[in-house]
Amino acid sequence: MVTAGTLLYEGKAKRVFATDDASVVKVSYKDDATAFNGLKKGQIIGKGAINNQLTNLLFAYLGENGIKTHLLEQLSERETLVRKVDIVPIEVVVRNIAAGSFSKRLGVAEGEELPYPLVEFYYKNDELGDPLITDEHALILGLATRAELTELRNQAIKIDRLLQQRFLASGLILVDFKLEFGRTSEGEIILADEISPDTCRLWDSETRKKLDKDRFRQDLGGVEDAYQEVFARLTSLREGQSE
Ligand code: TMP
Repeated sequence: MVTAGTLLYEGKAKRVFATDDASVVKVSYKDDATAFNGLKKGQIIGKGAINNQLTNLLFAYLGENGIKTHLLEQLSERETLVRKVDIVPIEVVVRNIAAGSFSKRLGVAEGEELPYPLVEFYYKNDELGDPLITDEHALILGLATRAELTELRNQAIKIDRLLQQRFLASGLILVDFKLEFGRTSEGEIILADEISPDTCRLWDSETRKKLDKDRFRQDLGGVEDAYQEVFARLTSLREGQSE
């Protein structure tokens, strides 16, 4: 039997522990940062505490707006209780503006606005480097059913609309982001994992300065400051916002 406190899983940015309740796990966020599928390694001091609290703030906001999430209760700056789910091995990426691998693969200049939000599926598999997949690949590999893929796409578009509004109110443009979903024991698909500057591209709405993990990926400097800036903006009304 798994006892409370047992480490169930360790990922690149979080650890997951068992609790007294088999349907609940504790997530603990680390300061460790990786990029390019773990090839680049480092630490972003304070990142774990920021990403935990930002994720909870955004999941609570999405929950209030009809999105079901795994969030149960924040325990401390770095630790949160969440519903135990089986993670669907598909990383769902939504893009509003061209950047990152989309720009590189398709030769579209970073910053070009897309005519409508693009939803992409990636196979969550570190050994393969999380390859981009089609619906047919997902079906043939048995990663999800056709109905689940439709559900993932619909949820992702709704979440994009809500997050864009929330970030813009804090002076941030949501360029793109990655979501992960989980299946509950009842087979329902709910939002899981995290939403943070690790998993979103966020630009200042006036200067377009990058305020996310691209500062780490691209060695732009000011990484910690960028995470703190996003945290400060989302947790307080911006100066001058009502002016
Ligand atoms: P990409 O442009 O590198 O494909 O990334 C798209 C979005 O997904 C971007 O906001 C960063 C996020 N992302 C993750 O959260 N984890 C990952 O492993 C990768 C590759 C991207």
